[in-house]
Amino acid sequence: MARFLLTTAIDYVNSRPHLGTAYEKITADIIARYRRLAGYDVHFLMGNDEHSQNVFKRAQEQGKDPLAYCDEMEQVFCEVWKRLDVSYDDFIRTTDRTRHYPATQKLAQVAYDKGDIYEGSYEGWYCEGCEAFKPEKDLVNGNCPLHNTPPRWIKEKNWFFRLSRYQQPLLDHFAKHPSFLEPEIRRNEILRLIEGGLEDISMSRSGQSWGIPVPFDRDSVVYVWFDALINYAAAVGYGWNEDLYRQWWPANLHVVGKDITRFHSVFWPAMLMSVGEPLAEQVFGHGWVYFKGERMSKSLGNIVDPLDAANRFGPDPLRLYLAKEIPYGGDGDFTWGRFEEKYNADLANNLGNLVNRVASMTERYQQGRIRATGGGALAAIAAESVSAYTAAMQAHALHDGAAAAFRLISAANNFIAEQQPWALAKDPANADQLNGVLAESTEAVRIAATLLAPIMPASSTEILRRLGDDRPLKDRRLGADTAWRSSGEKQLLNAGALWPRIEAEQGAATVTDQTQKPAETPAPADTSSTITIDDFMRVHLKVAKVLEAERMPKSQKLLKLKVDAGEAEPRTILAGIAEAYGPEALIGKSIVIVANLAPRKMMGIESNGMVLAASPEGGGAIVLNSEPAAPGTRVR
Ligand code: MSP
Repeated sequence: MARFLLTTAIDYVNSRPHLGTAYEKITADIIARYRRLAGYDVHFLMGNDEHSQNVFKRAQEQGKDPLAYCDEMEQVFCEVWKRLDVSYDDFIRTTDRTRHYPATQKLAQVAYDKGDIYEGSYEGWYCEGCEAFKPEKDLVNGNCPLHNTPPRWIKEKNWFFRLSRYQQPLLDHFAKHPSFLEPEIRRNEILRLIEGGLEDISMSRSGQSWGIPVPFDRDSVVYVWFDALINYAAAVGYGWNEDLYRQWWPANLHVVGKDITRFHSVFWPAMLMSVGEPLAEQVFGHGWVYFKGERMSKSLGNIVDPLDAANRFGPDPLRLYLAKEIPYGGDGDFTWGRFEEKYNADLANNLGNLVNRVASMTERYQQGRIRATGGGALAAIAAESVSAYTAAMQAHALHDGAAAAFRLISAANNFIAEQQPWALAKDPANADQLNGVLAESTEAVRIAATLLAPIMPASSTEILRRLGDDRPLKDRRLGADTAWRSSGEKQLLNAGALWPRIEAEQGAATVTDQTQKPAETPAPADTSSTITIDDFMRVHLKVAKVLEAERMPKSQKLLKLKVDAGEAEPRTILAGIAEAYGPEALIGKSIVIVANLAPRKMMGIESNGMVLAASPEGGGAIVLNSEPAAPGTRVR
């Protein structure tokens, strides 16, 4: 079985986990769970970074011994990770004396023996938030641009690591291993940095006791970053268990934030090169999650606690939001309004509704029994979803993986709407056809739930249980468990709404109990052209502001618009209105779009949504202008 060593950054423990740090752990967990589903032997490592001066200070402020403080914080962190269903296999702390101390001291000693560490003195601005020296040119009004706090001027004896020696070897490595650092935007950024020349870095601090003693100078401790990076190798045996180490090292993937990608793709590989150890196969630098477009910070008082979402809705809606709504590798935004909107759209109205409909109709019409049948149109969509999902997840495109699973869910809901099982149920002569519709829908749910298992483990387990299959997730495999099954019988369980809708009332969100609504609403014959309010609410109409507009080459009709719909990134929409509007007429206008239309490719460009326009009899189009409400505002 192919092994897969996956790591996340280890967190400073001077404050509790927040949505940003949780984003990293949850997305890495999705990768770990996906790899297990794909049959890899996964070792998923996380941990805490404890030798930071900020941690030391926080302990002092609380009148605690630093190690006792870190012990408490380990409990705090691990409880949060467990509540969010993060399935780490190992958790390392940099104060770990049996693993991390020997590893750090060995690596420092080997690099020293190699001639890569020398003594010097350092003078410069040091930001304690970053735990790094800052070039004067990077300061903004004398402050660290990241933390907005003044750095300290430090002058001390330091040991230096000869990073400069590894400029060329690093460039060679990047050239030979194009996927060593992803996404591309970070690779380009880091390549420019390396090409610009590398200065030697400090690997020790003097005059401090909180840290690991430098093996060849007991008066100094190892600098927190040099120390922290070694955790990845320390956890799997470096310096204390050679056999274990050879079994697991090198790591397959380091998942880290964009702010610390440089440490992982420049310092850490150079340290490994120095001591003659293999480099990790890949570093992935994910983006940041902002709250209403702003960096979360204590001083702004806008820190989102992931447990608020988990305690209200369970961890899965948050996990899904983070995976599906933020293209992995880019930055994303979180607001409660948007979270609730996506919860309603994806979970209450789409997946939850599907599970409910299938289970309640099967109960009502066939005593809960399903006989599997061959797959029709849905089977083809399922096969497409599985292959798109697999390709996306293999490439860490978690958002595309989630979207592929949801394509199948939407298709199954549409299939039910078209086939109208409630109408078939009126005539016993249709019994086989009715079973066929329910069986196909059930099979689509089963496959979609299996694909979603890495993202929503508890919910997938529950859905699969309701479909009469309570094997644990760890026994399920991509391939065997995602192929269409056309034989066998099962007993379904109709157990009520998984995700009651959240209704926003006067700014306060309330949850309605969906179990009281009929699971499916057959349309009475005389009102067959009407739709329910729930049907209407599935169409997301939103205000969007036109940022750019241009004619599509070789097309009379199409305009290509770039619009701001209040999302992390502008979206592209192709609209057939070029005969009525020149591009300039639309730029800056607030228009109304259908935001949840499946993407469609036209003339080689993917259109993500539709512009609402009146279509007068004689031709032309009148785009519905909105009052300039904020982009992203829902129209209903
Ligand atoms: N201790 C160092 C990492 C050492 S790894 C050998 C550190 N710790 S941290 O607690 O500040 O950050 C931990 C991780 O959380 C980093 O990868 C960082 O990028 C990530 N995030 C912190 N805030 C974040 C967001 N708002 N959004 C996404 N990730 C963020 O750096």
